[in-house]
Amino acid sequence: MATVTAKTATPMQVCDRLTITVLVDNYIDMLMQNSPTVKRQGMLEHFLPRRGTPLAENGISFLLKAETAGRTTTILFDAGMSGIPIIHNARVLGIDWDEIDQVVLSHGHPDHFGGIYAALEAIGRRVPVVVHPSAFYPRSIRRPEAMLQYFNRGLTQAKLVEAGAALVEVCEPLEIAPGIMTSGEIPISVDFEHEVPAGRVSIRDGHVDHDPLDDYLTLVINVAGVGLVVLDPCGHSGVLSSLDHAVSVSGVDTIHAVFGGFHLGHAGITQQKIDSTVAGLIDRDVQLVAPMHCSGFRTQRAVAERMPEAFALMTAGAEVTIAANSGVSSSSSPN
Ligand SMILES: [Fe+2]
Ligand SMILES: [Fe+2]
Repeated sequence: MATVTAKTATPMQVCDRLTITVLVDNYIDMLMQNSPTVKRQGMLEHFLPRRGTPLAENGISFLLKAETAGRTTTILFDAGMSGIPIIHNARVLGIDWDEIDQVVLSHGHPDHFGGIYAALEAIGRRVPVVVHPSAFYPRSIRRPEAMLQYFNRGLTQAKLVEAGAALVEVCEPLEIAPGIMTSGEIPISVDFEHEVPAGRVSIRDGHVDHDPLDDYLTLVINVAGVGLVVLDPCGHSGVLSSLDHAVSVSGVDTIHAVFGGFHLGHAGITQQKIDSTVAGLIDRDVQLVAPMHCSGFRTQRAVAERMPEAFALMTAGAEVTIAANSGVSSSSSPN
């Protein structure tokens, strides 16, 4: 079990039922079947001429529907990289843009915010966009031969507002709907999760320095009778540290599920780090683990081998519903 216990005196509110749809991910596979846990866009759906096949790209985007006392809140979390799959896949999946109540951006990296302008245009009205203010600092990668161009130059407050955002810039945890919280800044509390900088820099007040990625946030959902569901889209604080932080800020001790990019797919990531991460997930008794996006094949394989009952492969178009009485609250079937 997790060694971290909740610090918050009053646990966060709950939602009764949560549905997560993957609008964008790095992978698509039309041969994958539905499982008791995951509903997928399989071969039948791919061949339906009126719908078309979902697309994949390097990036991630989730659509969440959280039901509480008969009311549904719909949240778009990140928007992929190019703006092409998010729009295409929403059409393929029958997503109604009018239903989106709020948007959250996890951080200022283009594989997460790149599609935001296309999404805001599709929403077509002013909508709250929750983001950490540090996401807007110019950031780049310093290589021995040169400094690469700012890779978040497309993300500015002015452009977002012009596109329809009602900006909510926040550094602290924020409960944005009943049972749904943005994490705020996440301390890296697990030693081996401190990331090698790899030349990442941000420019603040005229100084070029190591990028602390303090803008990075996750979504924490407390599902009644189930526990926490954490969406950790790019893993910049380490997935275990993010889970421990979720427990700390929510006041809830049970971690049911984690979905997202665990940032373990990069060159130079050791097998030992991957194995230690999986051991930490087992130690925290996570019932449903979906390594996506930047998790990498080795991590997917390690979770599948060592946590076969928990492993879920979430590709573009996949959908999971989590509720106390839905039959999927505790995953009993692989994939
Ligand atoms: Fe990132
Ligand atoms: Fe990413």
